[in-house]
Amino acid sequence: MALLPGKVSLLDVSSGRDLSAKIVELTPGLARARIDRVWWNDLDATSTKNCPEDRDWKWADIAAQAQGCRDFICVGVSVADTDEICGAMLYQVGAASFFNPANLAIEVLLLATKPTSRGLLLANLGYRGVGSALLLQAVAHSYGLGLKGRTVLRSIPAEATIQFYKKRGFDSHSTEPDGKIKMELKPEHAQSWLRNKGLAL
Ligand SMILES: CC(C)(COP(=O)(O)OP(=O)(O)OC[C@H]1O[C@@H](n2cnc3c(N)ncnc32)[C@H](O)[C@@H]1OP(=O)(O)O)[C@@H](O)C(=O)NCCC(=O)NCCS
Repeated sequence: MALLPGKVSLLDVSSGRDLSAKIVELTPGLARARIDRVWWNDLDATSTKNCPEDRDWKWADIAAQAQGCRDFICVGVSVADTDEICGAMLYQVGAASFFNPANLAIEVLLLATKPTSRGLLLANLGYRGVGSALLLQAVAHSYGLGLKGRTVLRSIPAEATIQFYKKRGFDSHSTEPDGKIKMELKPEHAQSWLRNKGLAL
């Protein structure tokens, strides 16, 4: 597994300081102890009443399935000097571009930030940059495999989520029958993002 960019920098909202973190492989044990038993226990009912679809994702099961399949990769964001995992992503190598299926891409299948680090849920707590760092990991892996950074995903049809991807250069392709939006990061946008982060020439 290519773990680029490896080290990532987050913003700690309460202190206003940069915080170092890294992308790690998410094993079932790590996912169970640091995500499934933690993420939603830290929030009260009022914060979670409009909770998103990932509320029921079981990351230990997701990580176990990824371990059994060479093309699936499950990673998390581990905060330095703590035992905290503040984000998780499942992605697949060897998917096809939506715009030109002859081109290979990486597909992000599941992406989630720890609820206390989502600005939409709790404005003044947690970290910023977790979702972006995970997405960049998938893009960097695509670039490292010679796929030019091409990355696809199916966004939930929530405007804030679609805007999150658009701000990172993703284009909408089409809408699926279940309402999800097929989106793709084309090579020019991927490489521009990677260059800005010093990860491509
Ligand atoms: C969608 C989701 C993954 C986004 O992740 P996130 O960790 O909240 O996103 P980030 O912190 O990287 O970015 C959010 C904002 O923080 C800011 N930010 C990011 N990195 C920052 C940094 N280092 N310093 C300061 N601010 C930063 C950005 O400006 C960004 O706002 P913008 O999108 O207007 O540019 C997250 O909201 C989530 O888990 N949602 C629920 C599950 C879900 O819907 N998953 C997607 C299914 S398709």
